[in-house]
Amino acid sequence: MSNEILLETENLIKTFGTFRAVDGLNLQVHAGEMVGLVGPDGAGKTTAIRLMCGALSPTSGVVRVAGYEVPAQVEKAREQVGYLAQRFGLYGDLSVQENIEFFGEVFDVPVSEVKQRAAELLNFAGLGDFTDRPASALSGGMQKKLGLASALVHRPKVLLLDEPTGGVDPVARQEFWHLLIALLRGGSAVLVSTPYMDEAMRFNRVIFMNHGRVLTQGEPRQLMSRLEGRILELDAGDQMAARQIAEDDPEVEDVHTFGNHLHLRVSSAKGPMERIPMKLKSANIPMEHMLQIPATLEDVFIHLIETEGEEYEQPTPSA
Ligand SMILES: Nc1ncnc2c1ncn2[C@@H]1O[C@H](COP(=O)(O)OP(=O)(O)OP(=O)(O)O)[C@@H](O)[C@H]1O
Ligand SMILES: [Mg+2]
Repeated sequence: MSNEILLETENLIKTFGTFRAVDGLNLQVHAGEMVGLVGPDGAGKTTAIRLMCGALSPTSGVVRVAGYEVPAQVEKAREQVGYLAQRFGLYGDLSVQENIEFFGEVFDVPVSEVKQRAAELLNFAGLGDFTDRPASALSGGMQKKLGLASALVHRPKVLLLDEPTGGVDPVARQEFWHLLIALLRGGSAVLVSTPYMDEAMRFNRVIFMNHGRVLTQGEPRQLMSRLEGRILELDAGDQMAARQIAEDDPEVEDVHTFGNHLHLRVSSAKGPMERIPMKLKSANIPMEHMLQIPATLEDVFIHLIETEGEEYEQPTPSA
């Protein structure tokens, strides 16, 4: 990763009627960095990404892509952006080869270069053997890879991928991540939106987003360390009753069921570790174990949503 900022938003706002879908978004992505824009349905991820690639114009605020400002220099900025929409369109009747050549034309890739570029990208995406197949006959995962290859045809410096692994099987997902890692080595800046917490570990940096705002951001491990010592796993005979006892403890903030276990988030571990086993014992509920476990990114995110970022919110520059 270098220090060069290839993608930046400043106080970006988008309202639909009176509703703010993007509400003062500030973010930066550096060359060679893969950043995850992680948030639940309706968080504003797609709207934010569409603002960044110039598909939507902002109500206020600025996007900078490789030094060009959107909306002021949107044409120049677009040349630097590869965008894979959440519901992107390939031309089903066109072959794999024709699809990628079509995108080459759209982005004014010189005719003399487009065939070689298409061959490179299709090999890179593992589609080299399927060039004549109609896009509609590709599997979902292959379609995503063709979408990615098409988004790269004009050698963009910034890649915006909106839920690229949605509806894709785990093997194809894995392959897709390998492709992205290869792109980073070339110095691209990649912003990927996802609602999947298990994918968030793959990013150099994660930006948690909700209600159109950044809740917090950081390296995955650094984010998880914020809840160090505050997640307990409890395994007890009567899970329903054990859950009630845990929820009644004054230092337990949240209880989730994970298979056979209960996951407790506590403000401090010591009190609950003493009280809960005693209460289980007096209620005659056998306890298998109770121990501190590392927080997951999902724990961190749930915590942030519940406190709506009040604990961690970054100061936003004044408009
Ligand atoms: N054109 C529009 N008109 C009105 N409201 C809109 C429009 N586009 C998006 N919204 C609203 O803005 C909010 C954010 O939507 P957006 O699609 O950006 O969320 P998202 O994070 O991408 O969600 P998902 O994970 O489901 O794709 C939602 O409440 C949505 O209904
Ligand atoms: Mg979306």
